[in-house]
Amino acid sequence: MTDAPRILMCRPDCYGIEYEINPWMNRERQVDHDRAIRQWEGLRAILESIGVQIELVEPQAGLPDLVFTANAALIFGQKCVLSQFRHAQRQGEEPHFAAALRSRNLEIVTLPEDLYFEGAGDALFCGETLFGGYRIRSTALALQRVGALISREVIPLELVDPRFYHLDTCFCPLSPERAIWFPPAFDAYGQDVIRSNVPSLIEIDETEAAAFGANAVVVGQHVVTNTGCPKLHENLRTSGFEPIETPLGEFVRAGGSAKCLTLRLDGEDAANWNLVS
Ligand code: ARG
Repeated sequence: MTDAPRILMCRPDCYGIEYEINPWMNRERQVDHDRAIRQWEGLRAILESIGVQIELVEPQAGLPDLVFTANAALIFGQKCVLSQFRHAQRQGEEPHFAAALRSRNLEIVTLPEDLYFEGAGDALFCGETLFGGYRIRSTALALQRVGALISREVIPLELVDPRFYHLDTCFCPLSPERAIWFPPAFDAYGQDVIRSNVPSLIEIDETEAAAFGANAVVVGQHVVTNTGCPKLHENLRTSGFEPIETPLGEFVRAGGSAKCLTLRLDGEDAANWNLVS
């Protein structure tokens, strides 16, 4: 029997739109707090129903984006590369995430201070290769350093659309050979690189990308997304996956959705990896 997948989440008790650091955020479009809690609980219940063990980090007043635990770190096996946020508004999250991860007996590694790195939001494994998104949040050099720290090849991809500012908003590995993607979020070179490195790609259209369809939590064959992505779900079913939708609109107001609200503590698809390093 394999161990249950473990995912770190943070209750949205202190969540809201207190600043604007991406094009989705507007302080005049505030969050409906009760609805945000219900949506978050809905996501949590779905994840638990497909066998995930949820672990929690304490919410903190003044750190509304702490709910987006994907940005805490990149976890690979026992190694954990901590994030260093680009925006001052999120830098206060770093010690809280670091403490939560340290207490879980991971081997913590840090990057040189002058580099930005936003964790699993910008660094996603597809098979053995780490795909990294850079320019809008993480710096390209940070991705190279991360690859060296975990002895894995990194494919850096430049993100060109400010709405899709983290890699996990426009690219979602489903298995070692398959991923969901929104091509216009990448430059022509990045698109070629993805096409030549991922054998089977499921493309998402602009409407469904804007509904954060590519921001999916993948657990085995289950793919959990926000509502509003019927074409993606149809394509996923055709490819043998089991898509599940749940409303997450309150989190889209901050530029996030299902994947952003989660961090795999046992590594993105650790169960299937051959940890040779
Ligand atoms: N408001 C947050 C930010 O701009 C949203 C983070 C979404 N997280 C993600 N992994 N895409 O940083």
